[in-house]
Amino acid sequence: MNGPRLERRDAAGLKDIRPQLLDVYAEIYADRLGEEFHSVARFDERLGWNTEVPGFAAVVAYLDDVPVGYAYGCTLQPGTRWWNGLRTAVPKGATEETGSRTFALSELMVVERVRGTGLAGQIHDELLRGRPEERVTLLVERDHPKVRALYEAWGYEWFGEVLPFPDAPPYDAMILRRQV
Ligand SMILES: CC(C)(COP(=O)(O)OP(=O)(O)OC[C@H]1O[C@@H](n2cnc3c(N)ncnc32)[C@H](O)[C@@H]1OP(=O)(O)O)[C@@H](O)C(=O)NCCC(=O)NCCS
Repeated sequence: MNGPRLERRDAAGLKDIRPQLLDVYAEIYADRLGEEFHSVARFDERLGWNTEVPGFAAVVAYLDDVPVGYAYGCTLQPGTRWWNGLRTAVPKGATEETGSRTFALSELMVVERVRGTGLAGQIHDELLRGRPEERVTLLVERDHPKVRALYEAWGYEWFGEVLPFPDAPPYDAMILRRQV
């Protein structure tokens, strides 16, 4: 077996592998696909919205040419809905987006057989490599404190409580400040 290979993709470059990425999602979220918010169709819809936003980028990890994980995100634009579900107070101006300030890491996932290997961190770092934004934000489910702890180990800090969609579970927003 060859080591993992990471591939960067832009929105156009994602089209031909989108079905494969949906399969990876379906495998990882198998026990939650019955929840409307986590259905493949809704995930695909959110992925589609992401690809339309400037700054979209994805990194896909392959093991023996089979995708085993990926991450993607986009640059938050002025007037973005990203912060609309924020439930807690934040400092003035903290959610002001300029179209170049914040990279929103929308999804990060790896299949079970490569968990705990550091591959997720490699995908994450490759996605951010060379990006110009001064900060990165992501949402982590309130019910997943171990995932939050992982992000804290990567340098992320808690920012606020978020309900990103009316039928979504509660999330915490986290922020990674970057030297750019
Ligand atoms: C999050 C993820 C990319 C991290 O991969 P990794 O760096 O290899 O780290 P691990 O898989 O070892 O996860 C770290 C810890 O979080 C826990 N964890 C990971 N995903 C979890 C989930 N969906 N729900 C609850 N706990 C989870 C793991 O059990 C592990 O805990 P442990 O140290 O006690 O074993 C990977 O676990 C994953 O793809 N999870 C499913 C999808 C997901 O939840 N993505 C994050 C969305 S914010």
